[in-house]
Amino acid sequence: MSISDQSLFPQTPVESKEHEDHYNKICEDYNHLMETLPKGNGWRAKHLYNYNGFWISPKYIKANLLLHAYFKPQPTDIFLASFMKSGTTWLKALIFSTLTRHLYSFSDHYLHHHGPQSTFPFLESECENFPITDFTHMSSPRLFATHFPRTLLPESMTSCKFVYICREPKDVLVSKWVFMNKIREKDLPPFSFDEAFDLFCEGVSNYGPFWEHVLSYWRASLESPEKILFLKYEEVKRQPEVVVRRLAAFMGIPFMAEEVEKGVVENIVKLCSFENLSNLEVNKKGVEKFGTVEVENREFFRKGEIGDWRNYLSDEMKQRIDGIIDEKFKGSGLIFGS
Ligand code: A3P
Repeated sequence: MSISDQSLFPQTPVESKEHEDHYNKICEDYNHLMETLPKGNGWRAKHLYNYNGFWISPKYIKANLLLHAYFKPQPTDIFLASFMKSGTTWLKALIFSTLTRHLYSFSDHYLHHHGPQSTFPFLESECENFPITDFTHMSSPRLFATHFPRTLLPESMTSCKFVYICREPKDVLVSKWVFMNKIREKDLPPFSFDEAFDLFCEGVSNYGPFWEHVLSYWRASLESPEKILFLKYEEVKRQPEVVVRRLAAFMGIPFMAEEVEKGVVENIVKLCSFENLSNLEVNKKGVEKFGTVEVENREFFRKGEIGDWRNYLSDEMKQRIDGIIDEKFKGSGLIFGS
């Protein structure tokens, strides 16, 4: 597709020509990549492609190229990064309600009527098409979510703050398998848990290998703890109030003593709890669009528990995956589930 197909492109003729050439070059690079990249079995769609070490869907490979070419980060931007099914929805709600706590009352809150996914943009979807979404009118600090690993992001984004949420890999696997089956393309054959398990262990799942994804942010957080807040789903479960206070401080808007006394932290935790959010009408019936893919909000709320993997993995499977995880994280200092 050439840029001239895009009626929305608002540039002067000279700039248009330059931009057209630039965009056409990106399309050429993309087409070349798609012919040469290693292919693996997909979870939602037929194939994933190994792009710079990570298994990515074609449309998000293109989004990554457009992100590198056109996204202009601001130093005040805050990104929520995660491997899929690690608690993104929860953290979106927590980050949004912490940042906007002066704008909404807890008796009639934005999140009572809108799914947490709608609170701030998912970068990949916004960069899927050309021109990418114009974010210049968003007020500062701008919030974005992404599943891209750290190493696939433009260097210019390293000056921004990141909140990374990770989760015990066996729970991620189960959550991801259930979710992907719900949104799997209808013309594909059924996707068994055994197949998902093998692929996950080989590193082949959207944005995988899981361990490379987590390690990309873990290492960066050790180097720049002031820029990357590394969280675990299990610790948010255990001590949500502590995490919310850390989030606020990290984002540069710590809670004042009066706010704490008034119970603002507890109110945010309650508002964003699985029990509360999953029972709201908007999250039972609503739909969220990610580019061309529509996902029912309720698919983002399944059980919200730690250790549901026990209902899916045999002892043998547990041993195999634990062995892989132990080996991949050896010496990193990162321990799951604690
Ligand atoms: P389960 O499938 O194990 O229940 P993501 O938001 O990254 O897609 O992750 C989805 C997982 O987070 C699902 O896990 C979902 O139930 C859980 N989840 C969603 N909202 C939550 C909340 N408010 N509290 C705890 N877990 C939540």
